[in-house]
Amino acid sequence: MFISLLITGFAIFVVLNVLPYFKGVGAWIDRRLPIFSFLLDHLSYYPAPKNLNIWYAFGALAMVACAIQFISGIWLVMYYTPTAEQAFSSVQLIMREVPYGWLVRYVHSTGVSLWFVVVYFHIFRGLMYGSYKTPRELLWMSGVVLLFLLMAEAYTGYVLPWGQMSFWASKVIISLFSSIPVVGNDIVVWLQGDYEVSGVTLHRFFAFHVVGFSFLILAMIFLHIIMLHSVGSNNPDGVDIMKHKDRNGWPLDAVPYYPYFVMKYIPIILLYLFVFFVIVFYAPTFFGLFLEAENFERANPLVTPLHIKPSWYLSPYYAILRSIPDKSLGALMMLMSIVLWLFLPWLDLSPVRSMRYRGWMSRTALITVVGSFVLLGYLGLQPAVGWYLVMSRVATLLYFSFFLLIPILSYYDQDYVVPDRIPER
Ligand code: HEM
Repeated sequence: MFISLLITGFAIFVVLNVLPYFKGVGAWIDRRLPIFSFLLDHLSYYPAPKNLNIWYAFGALAMVACAIQFISGIWLVMYYTPTAEQAFSSVQLIMREVPYGWLVRYVHSTGVSLWFVVVYFHIFRGLMYGSYKTPRELLWMSGVVLLFLLMAEAYTGYVLPWGQMSFWASKVIISLFSSIPVVGNDIVVWLQGDYEVSGVTLHRFFAFHVVGFSFLILAMIFLHIIMLHSVGSNNPDGVDIMKHKDRNGWPLDAVPYYPYFVMKYIPIILLYLFVFFVIVFYAPTFFGLFLEAENFERANPLVTPLHIKPSWYLSPYYAILRSIPDKSLGALMMLMSIVLWLFLPWLDLSPVRSMRYRGWMSRTALITVVGSFVLLGYLGLQPAVGWYLVMSRVATLLYFSFFLLIPILSYYDQDYVVPDRIPER
């Protein structure tokens, strides 16, 4: 895995250095299939604002995380059997018999958690610097769709080991669809492929996980980058770098993506891989994924686990679901907790992008929504009783209040003066 990533990194490095001098055959191919000029335009000549900071590494890390999941996933699929009878034992086979199977599985289970960590930081960066504001509305919306796909991919993957928690978590989530009026029950039967969660459901989820959502994610990432490169990157100051250009049309506040940013991000990617493998080797159950005690038992439709809990990265949404007494309304609010983000570009009325030049009102709104999300994440892992339930309700209220308050707060916020160009610091 590590070697495949190093080889990929090295290949990009070589391609970027050699391509500009690649005449003859290269030029012949490029005229017919402009793959080399495409790579050069997007990985090398792309004008990146010169003040992009460490927060901008999270996009690149999300790509690395995606690559790790695909590589390790392909290996797992070679040994995994998607039937109710054999799924559980094939996972045991991977852990005990397949050479280094345990390593590949731990890489895959740690990888999904770290992918979410990276994506949540990536979103936070977007909120801090107002990257969703015009002209990046569609780019932001493609990100929200990516988050949806990522959740669907993670959820369908969670079912595959066919342990007790896999089985019961799939039952809880599938049953939510029954609250959709008129067609709800038909959707449940279609999703299950049966009148109960069974081996057919497992096979269906396997297809969604390995082919369906994974390829949608790849396609969406491709569109995400195309959209980003059409409108250009925002930056920590939220200043439009296209306003000031030199005689050749090059933005004054930009530098080519290669070599400066490629070199700047390589140590960060190595650091990420270091942390990744420390977790894999020394604390593979750190994120708890697939590895809760209940999931060491084969799925049993007759025995319900005492406390069904989701993975940590889905727990904020689960906390919202449980905090609302009505099941249908809870499911709707859980859905809305993500859908509402699609409208953020139009809800935030401030003419200023970056929080650096905004007043306390916008900052309070941001802290409230992030704080309540983290709190919901914690509460979603606790039983929904007593104080936990009360706090879930308060946190849910705070979370949704953001979408009501942001138009007002951003409108009345006392903005600071935004510089015309990226300031020297
Ligand atoms: C699989 C998940 C994702 C991948 C691989 C990915 C990848 C990237 C990359 C490589 C960049 C350019 C580098 C950077 O600005 O960090 C980027 C930018 C961006 N992404 Fe994502 N992204 C993902 C998910 C998301 C999500 C969930 C959102 C928001 C909900 C989002 C919103 C944005 C925005 C607004 C930008 C432009 C940032 C700016 O110019 O300031 N992305 N993404």
